[in-house]
Amino acid sequence: MEAKLAERGLDLDRPLPDTPEPIPALEAAQARIPVDYRAAVPEHPDVTAWVRTIADNAVAPNTEGLNPHYGSTGRRRIAHGPSLLLWGATGTGKTHQAYGAIRALTAAGCGVQWHAATAADLYADMRPRTGVDPEHMLRQIVRVPLLLLDDLGAAKPSEWTEEITFRLINWRCQNRLPTIFTSNMPPVRTSETPARQPVLRDKVGDRVLSRLSGMCTAVEFTGPDRRFQRR
Ligand SMILES: Nc1ncnc2c1ncn2[C@@H]1O[C@H](COP(=O)(O)OP(=O)(O)OP(=O)(O)O)[C@@H](O)[C@H]1O
Ligand SMILES: [Mg+2]
Repeated sequence: MEAKLAERGLDLDRPLPDTPEPIPALEAAQARIPVDYRAAVPEHPDVTAWVRTIADNAVAPNTEGLNPHYGSTGRRRIAHGPSLLLWGATGTGKTHQAYGAIRALTAAGCGVQWHAATAADLYADMRPRTGVDPEHMLRQIVRVPLLLLDDLGAAKPSEWTEEITFRLINWRCQNRLPTIFTSNMPPVRTSETPARQPVLRDKVGDRVLSRLSGMCTAVEFTGPDRRFQRR
């Protein structure tokens, strides 16, 4: 028996590794995450609560509506759910928390098909030019099960970017697809908002803001710019 095991490279006396097995899905996700955010974990209570909701909503493929006694047929996939709007001053950790949420969902065993882009990069990638079909790209992006749209409202707006933003958010709102938005601006002006502080409503318009309010939990990030504290 021992000889047979040795033939296959198995050694019963070898101690078991004390580090946990790597999670393949997380390993694959790591490669697509910017280096700065590869160790991010959700820490903000509203972000951890959202991760839990999305993970609880995740469904096993082909079992939706079927008799649950037959159990699951595979890894759970992200389904419908609420979205997040992380807003606050620069460097307060919004993008960090957004990637932390994506990593946590991957580690929780959810099959996470996700895409992340800043709004400015998204518009730039979609600009109509030879070999690029913006309609095809938009159709793909709106359907991604989990989308991180970073820095909403930061790009210079044009009629075209406004239309893309509206169609993207409208589709994801109507289909309740989980989306994490980040923005440097407060969503709306309140009595405490300084007069010169731009707000998201002015940048994206009433119709987009209405949809964002309906689909998102807005989470404010405060504190100093962490980039100044790093070295
Ligand atoms: N909880 C955290 N733990 C460790 N590092 C963090 C944490 N939050 C943020 N950081 C680090 O601080 C820096 C700024 O964070 P981040 O990029 O998330 O800010 P931001 O709010 O998205 O800023 P901006 O509005 O300019 O995009 C990054 O280098 C990030 O890795
Ligand atoms: Mg950011």
